[in-house]
Amino acid sequence: MTNRPKRLRRCQLSVPGSSEKMMTKAAGLGVDFVFLDLEDAVAPQEKRPARKKIIDALNNLDFGKTTRCVRINDLTTEYAAEDIIEIMEGAGENLDVIMLTKCLGPDDITFCDKLMTQMEKKLNLKKKIGLETLIEEVEAMQRVDEIAAASDRLEALIFGMGDYSASQGVSTKDIGGESGYPGDIWHYQRQKMTIAARVNKIDAVDGPFANFSNPEAFREECRRSMILGMVGKWAIHPSQVAIAHEVFSPTEDEVDRARRMKAAFEEAVSKGLGAAQFEGSMIDIASMRIVDRIVTRADMIGI
Ligand code: COA
Ligand code: MG
Repeated sequence: MTNRPKRLRRCQLSVPGSSEKMMTKAAGLGVDFVFLDLEDAVAPQEKRPARKKIIDALNNLDFGKTTRCVRINDLTTEYAAEDIIEIMEGAGENLDVIMLTKCLGPDDITFCDKLMTQMEKKLNLKKKIGLETLIEEVEAMQRVDEIAAASDRLEALIFGMGDYSASQGVSTKDIGGESGYPGDIWHYQRQKMTIAARVNKIDAVDGPFANFSNPEAFREECRRSMILGMVGKWAIHPSQVAIAHEVFSPTEDEVDRARRMKAAFEEAVSKGLGAAQFEGSMIDIASMRIVDRIVTRADMIGI
């Protein structure tokens, strides 16, 4: 499948679906992607009323270019199917993506895909709504390759380190980096999930960083996931948005250099050469794969 919509996910802002105030604020922040939450940010007694609030927000707020997503409860709960049905019935025309939580395996993706297909038919929706899922249980991490390949509708995998810590039994001290564990506690999981995503040409996104009063630590987490090939990170507070947008965007200098390199390579090819010199280094078709990624992203962002 190649015709998935291209969406920016440099930052995905989590917004409690029970808070009209925060949803209103989120719509005006100019963030790439907002998800209105029905899961952990919403207390059990608020889950059903929050659906109505989310429907109102989707139908009445102007989100501009921001992608509009709803995060649903997981498939072991009594809420999940009704979350999909009610949100699509109430605001299907104004919804871009549904995000699944606590996925356990490819069957969960198939279930959501089939239910969404039924709803799209029933509602006669013209556009297909995307799907993405958190990878936050050890079962999902173990089968992440199958999950990533489970549906053409799937657009992204997100590493959810909070629930994942509980699932694997990672000590909470390690999450803050205070235990003295040598290296990055999430290196393996981020690598594994990102490879699965890239194989299937979908996005890999890094989950939340709770301490929103520590922008430098947040920036470092963004940088680590960006270097591994992830395209963005969650924000749980508006102050984290600009940092994620910045770290997950190529700089103007990088874009300028990439475009010049591309032009130099194209000129070499037109002269029948496979490799050329660019500012003292060799460039070839392999260099162009990296350059093309930068140029494509720059075009999407508008740099
Ligand atoms: N989305 C939109 N607006 C948000 C926001 C969010 N996630 N978090 C905070 N804001 C707003 C506040 O309403 C406030 O708006 P105002 O200036 O118009 O009054 C402003 O940003 C500053 O917020 P602040 O006072 O610093 O924080 P707070 O005490 O209001 O909120 C949290 C702190 C942690 C409760 C809040 O950020 C939050 O609920 N985050 C999301 C939690 C979540 O989604 N968890 C599940 C996924 S991990
Ligand atoms: Mg979770």
